[in-house]
Parts: sequence; structure tokens; C-alpha cells
Amino acid sequence: MTEMIYDVPASWAKKAWLNDAKYKKMYSASIKDPDKFWGEHGKRIDWFKPYSKVRNVSYKPGKVSIKWFEDGTTNVAFNCIDRHLATRAKQTAIIWEGDDPSESKKISYGQLYTEVCKFANVLKAKGVKKGDRVTIYLPMIPEAAYAMLACARIGAMHSVVFGGFSPDSLASRIEDSDSKVVITADESLRGGRSVPLKKNVDAADDKVKGGIGTVIVVKRTGGNVTMQDGRDVWYHDEAAKVSGHCPPVEVKAEDPLFLLYTSGSTGKPKGVLHTSGGYLVYAAMTHQYVFDYHDGDIYWCTADVGWVTGHSYILYGPLANGATTLMFEGIPTYPTISRFWDVVDKHKVNIFYTAPTAIRSLMGAGEEPVKKTKRKSLRLLGSVGEPINPEAWEWYHRVVGERRCPIVDTWWQTETGGILITPLPGATKLKPGSATRPFFGVKPELVDAEGKVLEGAAEGNLVIAESWPGQMRTVYGDHKRFEETYFATYPNKYFTGDGCRRDADGYYWITGRVDDVINVSGHRMGTAEVESALVAHPKVSEAAVVGYPHDIKGQGIYAYVTLMAGEKPSADLKKELVSYVRNEIGPIASPDLIQFAPGLPKTRSGKIMRRILRKIAEDEYGALGDTSTLADPAVVDDLIANRQNKR
Ligand code: WT7
Repeated sequence: MTEMIYDVPASWAKKAWLNDAKYKKMYSASIKDPDKFWGEHGKRIDWFKPYSKVRNVSYKPGKVSIKWFEDGTTNVAFNCIDRHLATRAKQTAIIWEGDDPSESKKISYGQLYTEVCKFANVLKAKGVKKGDRVTIYLPMIPEAAYAMLACARIGAMHSVVFGGFSPDSLASRIEDSDSKVVITADESLRGGRSVPLKKNVDAADDKVKGGIGTVIVVKRTGGNVTMQDGRDVWYHDEAAKVSGHCPPVEVKAEDPLFLLYTSGSTGKPKGVLHTSGGYLVYAAMTHQYVFDYHDGDIYWCTADVGWVTGHSYILYGPLANGATTLMFEGIPTYPTISRFWDVVDKHKVNIFYTAPTAIRSLMGAGEEPVKKTKRKSLRLLGSVGEPINPEAWEWYHRVVGERRCPIVDTWWQTETGGILITPLPGATKLKPGSATRPFFGVKPELVDAEGKVLEGAAEGNLVIAESWPGQMRTVYGDHKRFEETYFATYPNKYFTGDGCRRDADGYYWITGRVDDVINVSGHRMGTAEVESALVAHPKVSEAAVVGYPHDIKGQGIYAYVTLMAGEKPSADLKKELVSYVRNEIGPIASPDLIQFAPGLPKTRSGKIMRRILRKIAEDEYGALGDTSTLADPAVVDDLIANRQNKR
């Protein structure tokens, strides 16, 4: 098959921040002398006390330490709000589009200042101090942005938990972060349906050791909630008592900004910790160049603030740049499947950033729902979360962007804080399905299983050889786990967990995770987490979970389940197990397919051979590989004979 290449449109080359020559020059400068490069670009944010040291990083086993701009002091909320007030007090900072199309509002930078200061004062009144953790479990409403920025303003760390997580998942995150305060809403509203967030917090509280100190409740729907005396307060009552001014706290560049829990290949989700100075520099700089953001542009990222994409590219990056950022409460299919494009037309969106899973599901409904909208304002499209298949890319390009909008396929992770591999519109020729080239300061390498660096066109495991300012600094409360997860596999390099191919043009093609992490609709899920939810069910004795290719979700969840002796497999039990996992983790962890298996393929030492389970789930029995080390090779025949069909 000949490879499609899309040139940079002439109009773009003229007006974009970058062209190919500029990209190459800046990139090589960033790699040759990172101290000089970042020393200059660190100045894009305001510092109370300027830094004199730029980079102080060690990837040495047992001594991993990452510091950027360490002797500088700043405040992230000051950078996202106060410093814009002289010129942008009346400019819209946030356009909020509600679940129901009749509800939307615009929040100016001036209003954002007052709202964030009020929220900060409420937190202070509840005893939150610099360095404390605050869990935020809110829908996509402006208060989510106010609460996050309020934490930043007073130097507290926020830990946002996605509203789709269950009380159990919420409880373990509250407990691990030792949050004394939880911010929630009565209910969230998505696609016309409400989710009882406050009720979930009540249920979580029963599971948190020592309990939750304070719950601040934002009124969203007016739905029924029970307020517990001494613990629960309404946000609007508290906000009425405080002033609309709150001085930003001076923090060191390396003081923590937030925690965000994410799944790994083993154990419980870990608290990824990001700090203040380097993170903001990197989020803001990538937002400007990757999305070619110019003053006056209307920018929309459809992610939820519960994920890192929402942190870096709804909130921090755009606001640090004085941008207008759109925050959407709803879903792509409500009230109709044209909703995304209706919102684009309503607010004249110029830059639109979404996930491949959304594109694929909209693609399934055909071109009509897109074509009946205008989309004349659109200039640039973005994709994030998983590899985008070339068919979906082409559809996005041709139908949504009418061939005039470049697509930036941005590869990054919760851990990386910002985009690492991506096209830069104006500079990069596009190949559908490729995340293309590294951003400034990013040095990707491909290594084989032994850690040998592969040169030229090659396929291997993706590592990053040098630090960049947006990199995570530690796993909250477990630095050892940080070192073991990311720096032990290939010493002196950051291991991404992704496989990747580099073509003859030096373009990178992410091939997906090489560890036991699966990517379901762009949401990251540890197979171990789903397994431990399944084995918690009294009828289950053993479970093994793998991913398999799914048309819409990218990967689906395939669970092999061995029942306790005497338990009978049945369709009802399957349903029961699916809802059990939903309750334990959340709807995003629901198994798509469950296969009852009398036995799982194990080595003689008892280790489950997931490679074989993956192949069977992927429908590739021809490629099972060596099964001679199995304790009982016959189980494989049974597994193949009873394989579950995809949907
Ligand atoms: C994993 C990180 C970063 C925000 C959303 C996900 C996969 C992400 C791409 C892309 C191919 C991608 C990787 C990565 N991924 N973007 N453009 N092309 N794969 O963050 O939940 O931390 O997941 O998502 O496998 O490791 P996350």
C-alpha cells in the first residue's frame, strides 16, 4: 500500500508559528543545549523569583531525581489568571457549554479571578493549607476549573477523580492521597441522565479509613442529597461568606501542583505527581505550538478534567496562554449525533481536539450528521489517547475538516504532563496514523528487549533518553515504585510502556502498550485491576484479563474466568460479573467479553501465560508460539474451542 502524505497547506506555512526549517532549528538547539533552550523558554511564565538553575536531573538507578527551574518561585493560578488581567479582564477565559444545548455561559478572566479567589478562600476557611491534598470529584462544570485553580492559588495539591469512577475507586484515591477535603456536586448530568456524585461520596466515606473531614457540595442539578452535619457544606453558602480576593501563595518551582491517579501494569492505580514551574512551562508551550494557538482563537478540547488531557489542555496550558478554552459538560451524541459540530458552529470553534474513539463512533453514523453543520470556523483538528487508525484519520480529515484542517495526532501520557510526539501544523507533513516527530527537548529512542538502541527505520520499545520540564516527578508516597516502573527496565532512560516503529523519514508510529495496560476508548486500564475486581466475586476463583481489537473502543476488555468448584457458568452469571466490575471500578472497566475457562494456561511454576490468552482473544491461534512450557497444554484447546466472538 502506498503511504499517504499530506503536505503543509500553503496558507499554513505563511501564518503558523513554525515552518519546517524553524522546527528543525529549534529542535536541534533544544537537544544540543537543553539548559540554554529551556532557560529561555522558561521565561514564558512569570516568576516571583527568577530561576538561575534550569535543569538538575538524574535517571541513575536508585537515585532518580528530576528538578527544573528549582530555585525559581511562582504561582500557577497567578500565571493562568492575574497576569492576564491588565489586558484580558473582559476577554472570555472559559466558554461553558452545558449538557443541554440551551445552557451555556462565558466566564471572563476578570470573573475567573473572583470565582477562583472565592473558592480559594472557602478552602482556606475549611483549613486547607499549602501542601495539603484536596480530592475533586466534579462534573464538567466551571466550578471544576475554579476548584483546581483555587488549590493552585493556595499551594494545595488537587487530585481530580473522574466522575465515572465508583465509590470504591474514589475511596482508595482519597485514602492514598490522604485528602481531608473532598469537593463534589449533588449530581452530574450527561446525555440527559444524572449520576449521583454526592451519594457516591457518601458511600466512599464509609470505606475511607478515618473518614472524610469535609465535603464541599456544589449544586448542579438540584437533585436530592442528604447533607451530613459537621461534614458536608454547600459551596454557595460558604462562598457567600468570603471575599473575592485571595493573594496567590508563592511556591517553589518544584512544589507539587497536582496528583492524578493512573493505572499501571500491576497493583493499585498510582498517584502521578506533577510540580508547578516545569509543568506549566511545558503545558503552555506545547499548547501554543502544537495547536498553533494565536490570540483570539476559540479552542476546544473535549476531554474530561478527570484525565490529564483536561488538566493540561483544557485548563493549564490554554489559560497560561491567555486563551479562550471551551468546557463541555455533555456527550457527542446528545441531544443528537451532530452535537460536536453544532457546538463548533455555535461558538465558532477554531481548534478542536478529541479522541479516536469519538471519531470512530461518529463515523459509524455516516456523513450526514456532520455535513448538515457548517464548521467554517474550524482550522485545526487534534487527536489523543490511542493510535488513530488511518480510516478514522481520513474521515476526520475529509468529512469533518473538509480537507482544509491539518490533524495533530498527539502522543503523550499522564506521566509526561504534556505532548511529546506530534505534528506541528505549519511545519510537519502528515501521515495518517503517525504521531510523526518529537516536540522540542524530547529525545525518543527505540530499544530492543535487551535495551540495545535501534537506529534508523526500526521497531522496538519507546523510551525517552532525556528529561523534559513537564515530566512527572514521583509516584505520590512511593518513590521506589516510580523508579521501578519507569527507570528500571532500561537504566538511565524513561520507559513509556509503549511499542513504536520509526520509518525511513524518522516518523514515529505508536503501536500500543507492551505491558499489561489496555486502552479502552482512550481510557487507561490495568488488567490487574479488572482481575482483582473479578476475583473479589465469591463465585470466581481465578481471572485473567487481556485486551482485544474493538471497532469503536480501540481495545475491548476480554476476561477469562475460572469459577469456584461447583459453580455453574451461565449467561446470568456473566451479566452479574460485568455489573460487579462496574460497581467495583466504574463503567469504563466493564468487561466486553467473558469466557468461562475451566483452566488457564500456566507455566510449570504457575505463571499465567498472558501471551497465549492475548492471541486467543485477538483471534490469532496460528501464532500461539511456543506452548511447550505449559503445565497442561490441553487447556489451550479448550480455550480456543470456547472462544467468545467479538460482539
Ligand atoms: C497511553 C497514555 C495523554 C492523554 C491521554 C491518555 C496511548 C495516547 C496516543 C496517540 C497512540 C496514544 C499510549 C500511552 N496514547 N496518545 N496519539 N497515539 N497512542 O493518557 O491515560 O496516561 O494513557 O495512551 O499507549 O502510553 P494516559
